[in-house]
Amino acid sequence: MEIRNIKLSKSVLGPEEIEAVTGVLKNEYLGMGKYVQKFETELSDFFKRDVTLVNTGTAALHLALQCAGIGLGDEVLVQSLTYVACFQAILATGAKPVACEVNPQTLTIDIEDAGNKLTPHSKAIMPIHYAGNVGDMDAIYDFAHKNNLRVIEDASHAFGTVYKDNRIGSFGDICCFSMDGIKNITSGEGGMIITDDLKVRKLLKDARLLSVENDTESRFLGIRTWEFDVKYQGWRYHMSNIMAAIGSTQLEKFPAFKEKRQMLAKLYQRELNPWVELIPCNYDEVVPHIMVIRVNAAKRDELKAVLQDHGVATGMHYKPNHLLTLFRNNQNNSTLKKTEDIYNRLITLPLHPDLSEDDVLFICRIIKENL
Ligand SMILES: Cc1ncc(COP(=O)(O)O)c(C=O)c1O
Repeated sequence: MEIRNIKLSKSVLGPEEIEAVTGVLKNEYLGMGKYVQKFETELSDFFKRDVTLVNTGTAALHLALQCAGIGLGDEVLVQSLTYVACFQAILATGAKPVACEVNPQTLTIDIEDAGNKLTPHSKAIMPIHYAGNVGDMDAIYDFAHKNNLRVIEDASHAFGTVYKDNRIGSFGDICCFSMDGIKNITSGEGGMIITDDLKVRKLLKDARLLSVENDTESRFLGIRTWEFDVKYQGWRYHMSNIMAAIGSTQLEKFPAFKEKRQMLAKLYQRELNPWVELIPCNYDEVVPHIMVIRVNAAKRDELKAVLQDHGVATGMHYKPNHLLTLFRNNQNNSTLKKTEDIYNRLITLPLHPDLSEDDVLFICRIIKENL
């Protein structure tokens, strides 16, 4: 039996990142300074909108919610099938995450179910761009406008994805990204928030630095202010120069990462369709972060074990949040039948720019032989 060593996901780094970090170390200013300002400018050019950098995607979600005025007593509609970061970020503001179903095809939020869960306390919806795919964004924004909800997009999986000719992040209310080690681009850890709302933006820039007024501007000028005022709750969520130096280098490499991710996803699609259930994505538009398939629930764990025996790591995105102890008792309706059915059938297959086409063919062969 052939055994390989195939990772589920990984950081893809080279001498360029090492050189960039070395430059910051030699400069001996590691905190938030000119490298963060440079990376923010590069990203603002990429999205054609102002970008605020922070130190994780979770921090991005938390700050976005807080600065949009979401807090104690409010409710945020969010799909249960997402990383716990979304639920924790909502809870951190004092608001309640309201767990919704997903559309079984796209695995993005089920608007009809969200509609059933609206209450006078509903203040925002957090659509997750699951696996890089965004579902029907027009329907989400229509729903939000009709119901007077803020939209906090979690685009952690969707860096580079295009929807109707527009890059995700280049339009919409508030859009958050993660740049942790395995995302479509990484800054080591990292996150960003994009919005045109000037009031929210001003709050964000201060709140990432403990809400010390205008501290972003001072740090970009290389100045430390000692005399200042603080009017709002803030956090130490700013990005460091070390992270930004990695991020700038990764952004330059993004066209190659994008091409490789899309090519591998198309190969999976070609080899596995219709053997297993795949998210119906157009990989000329979607830049996939993960490759998720669904198989018969009775076969799922066995297939994962066979792949493991061949040295192929697999994952499961995600255990639904309404099944976690912290959130279980928080939900009025504790069963989400569609989500639970999907959860029992999910497998995440390896996907990263260092994966070879031959590895994808190897993985697909094992799957087809063991269904
Ligand atoms: C869907 C989703 N949201 C939020 C996050 C949180 O991002 P971070 O790990 O940068 O805090 C992640 C990270 O894995 C994610 O996958």
